[in-house]
Amino acid sequence: MRYWLVMPAAGIGRRFGAGRPKQYAILRGRTVIEWALAPFLGDRRCAGAVVALAAHDPYWPDIAPAGVIAAAGGAERSHSVRNALAALSGRAQPHDWVLVHDAARPCLPVRDLDSLLSRLEGHPLGGLLAAPAADTLKRDDGEGEVAQTVERAGLWRALTPQMFRYAPLCEALDRAHEARRLPTDEAQALEWLGHRPALIEGSAVNIKITSGADLALAAAWLQSAAESSE
Ligand code: CTP
Ligand code: MG
Repeated sequence: MRYWLVMPAAGIGRRFGAGRPKQYAILRGRTVIEWALAPFLGDRRCAGAVVALAAHDPYWPDIAPAGVIAAAGGAERSHSVRNALAALSGRAQPHDWVLVHDAARPCLPVRDLDSLLSRLEGHPLGGLLAAPAADTLKRDDGEGEVAQTVERAGLWRALTPQMFRYAPLCEALDRAHEARRLPTDEAQALEWLGHRPALIEGSAVNIKITSGADLALAAAWLQSAAESSE
């Protein structure tokens, strides 16, 4: 088993709204993106890693781990992912696995990475980590009132990493962009071509940092993970 890592890290963190993009916020003494990269850089199965960065990113040079390739980010997340995939051209084989993981997810448990890789080994297409919806779900009527309770059974929250084979993933993103459609995750681009990515259950601790409060949650989880490994 061998895979490549692609990490979109070119967002501005509008909802987070701090002085610097959230992937460079400090969490237990390291940046969020360093935590996000750690499970992969410590994994022998990872053949190489590419990060997609905003133009003139002033933070990356200070923390860039040796050997990680930098690619130019794009206007939307799917463009950033596509640019990073292009940087693997000539390195990755068409059938190779690519894992796409958000720079804003610093709490990926290694056991979730392991279960994603072992469940999809031998799979023709790929799939994603996802968490079953836990709360009762409401749809609003556009005026702040409940229009409907949505049946929770069968609903999942898409997480990352998302794991697909190199050539079909590139093709799916190209087809989406040609049609001027912007998939919000990699799986959606493949779904648009009629594929059915596999859902691999992952832990809800694998949060995406979105607002400032998420940073405190991530810090608490990383602290408890550090204590339990002592
Ligand atoms: N991302 C990217 N290129 C973009 C937009 C987002 O590489 N043009 C990355 C972000 O850096 C992040 C991941 O995609 O690691 C998930 O995106 P999101 O959580 O939406 O981050 P931001 O776009 O930075 O945040 P916001 O939407 O609040 O501005
Ligand atoms: Mg965004």
